[in-house]
Amino acid sequence: MDYTELVKKSLEFREKAYAPYSNFKVGAAVLMDDNKIYGGCNIENASYGATNCAERTAIFNAVSKGNRKLKAIALVGDVSTHTYPCGICRQVISEFSDKDTDIILVKNENDYLIKKLDEILPGAFTKNDLEK
Ligand code: THU
Repeated sequence: MDYTELVKKSLEFREKAYAPYSNFKVGAAVLMDDNKIYGGCNIENASYGATNCAERTAIFNAVSKGNRKLKAIALVGDVSTHTYPCGICRQVISEFSDKDTDIILVKNENDYLIKKLDEILPGAFTKNDLEK
């Protein structure tokens, strides 16, 4: 799978980050099962806990437009290493992904790692766990 466009989108959306408190900009882009791409950035708040991460912004953007199946998600942080999604974002990714969903940790346009959710969130709590 060629993720060139998705990776570029994540970098593009990082520019939109609203991060005046942490000064840590994050960009994300999701590829949905209809092959559409949606982007997102982190959006901070003076009440720090109200902050929304880039991955969740991108996923909520896609879901609010009617797409619920993630083929892949790319994210890029503001450091020279690969940024992994936070715990809350891993949980939100799990809601809309399956075992084949690729999680792409972008360092730059030419350097990224591809993970599966099971590697970074083993034993995820899902809707199946709600069955009595
Ligand atoms: N952040 C993300 O956008 N995604 C993550 O997975 C990790 C953290 C943001 C939240 C906050 O705006 C800044 O990075 C520092 O934590």
